[in-house]
Amino acid sequence: MRLDCSRPIFSIVSEEAEAMGVRAYVIGGYVRDQLLGRHSKDIDIVVEGSGPELARRVGRRTGSNVAVFARFGTAMIHSAEGEEVEFVGARKESYSSDSRKPNVTQGTLRDDQLRRDFTINALSFSLQKEDMGELYDPFNGLEDLRDGLIRTPLDPDMTFSDDPLRMVRAVRFATQLGFRIVPEALESIRRNRGRMSILSPERVSEELHKILMSTKPSVGFDLLDQTTLLELVLPELSGLKGVETQDGRGHKDNYRHTLQVVDNIVPHTDNLWLRWAALLHDIGKPATKRFEKGTGWTFHGHEVVGAKMVYQVFKYLRMPLNEKMKYVQKLVFLHLRPIALVQDEVTDSAVRRLLFDAGDDIEDLMTLCEADITSKNDRTVARHLANFQLVRQKLQEVEEKDRIRNFQPPVTGEMIMETYGIPPCREIGIIKDCIKDAILDGIIPNDRDAAMALMREKAAELGLKENV
Ligand code: CTP
Repeated sequence: MRLDCSRPIFSIVSEEAEAMGVRAYVIGGYVRDQLLGRHSKDIDIVVEGSGPELARRVGRRTGSNVAVFARFGTAMIHSAEGEEVEFVGARKESYSSDSRKPNVTQGTLRDDQLRRDFTINALSFSLQKEDMGELYDPFNGLEDLRDGLIRTPLDPDMTFSDDPLRMVRAVRFATQLGFRIVPEALESIRRNRGRMSILSPERVSEELHKILMSTKPSVGFDLLDQTTLLELVLPELSGLKGVETQDGRGHKDNYRHTLQVVDNIVPHTDNLWLRWAALLHDIGKPATKRFEKGTGWTFHGHEVVGAKMVYQVFKYLRMPLNEKMKYVQKLVFLHLRPIALVQDEVTDSAVRRLLFDAGDDIEDLMTLCEADITSKNDRTVARHLANFQLVRQKLQEVEEKDRIRNFQPPVTGEMIMETYGIPPCREIGIIKDCIKDAILDGIIPNDRDAAMALMREKAAELGLKENV
């Protein structure tokens, strides 16, 4: 079988490899994705010789910069067509048991294919003039691709032990491609879970991102759960599992509910961090669970506890502790507010406060809340959605009227300090809060004159005298 190798970069690599007297092949994701009809921008080239040397020659021909990673024996160029092309020498690898660092010696294409993660990722095609595009598939990757199977070229214990991240990658590919992990690989993952401890958290979170960005993330989290990896990579999520019953009353399984929320949000957003918020929105529930006679199960304050836990999750998964994390915290913290709005009477003041607290993230918050409706009863779902529609309408009306979303206090701390000739002190905070609350409660309009008048009133109450 021959694959399409009409891209200009392939002829250049082919010619340069020939000039060097070595054999080069395209391998891995590019080949897999081409056979699946998926778009793939990155190209991996394996060469039975020096990867960096071939890269330098190709770089010279195409006029592109070559980045050499001497430690890994790899090199990368960007082709004129914008592809990222990575070159690596074919290797024969063996790993010591306490580290990811392999002992590498030069090998053949087959040696290299054997040490790859999955048969579908070991597929390669030739860049030799005589059989350009010919598929090299010693481990029946093509058959596995057709059957939708994730299988390792070697005994899975060996493949996973070489690089334990592959256990999570197996789950990720199964989720992205809708494939099945073969039973012996699933069992091997369970056996080798202990090896997860040598992984850097960044690599794991990259895979979790990819699972979250798939069309049905619940498949991936369920697979992580079935293989017992979930309690290692995201214990807060596995901690949501289970239903407790007391006095004949149970609560919903918050794990199943959470996965349903994540799947629900997928068609409405490609924002990875909003999907993370969906995944973590209820993680505070186990810590706040109580059974109250008469009321049943409650989770009071789980949004506050959950928002704090977001920090811990981001920290141990080495995800950015910046505005991305704050955004997820904010959504987790606020996720009950829109529903509370419809349960009570929708007052302008409550809507203004929500707009103030959510700011520009109000749309995302509404998207999360809509995904959070997971009732099996269609009528209940329809009723909730209609209520949220009402909240959206109200949010829009109030925003148009009062411009709260990007609220900037009409009277600043500096203005107060200047007017009363005082240094930073408690009174300034009191006056500012009083003005903010009055605007949000609709007592005064959101404008400067009204705010200044209230400032004077409050300052007089506090015994401050104007600077003349
Ligand atoms: N690979 C491997 N073991 C790993 C990571 C990668 O054997 N732990 C090999 C596989 O052959 C893989 C190739 O390196 O196809 C490229 O890896 P990567 O770019 O991470 O994955 P892709 O298969 O290209 O898929 P994606 O771009 O979706 O991550």
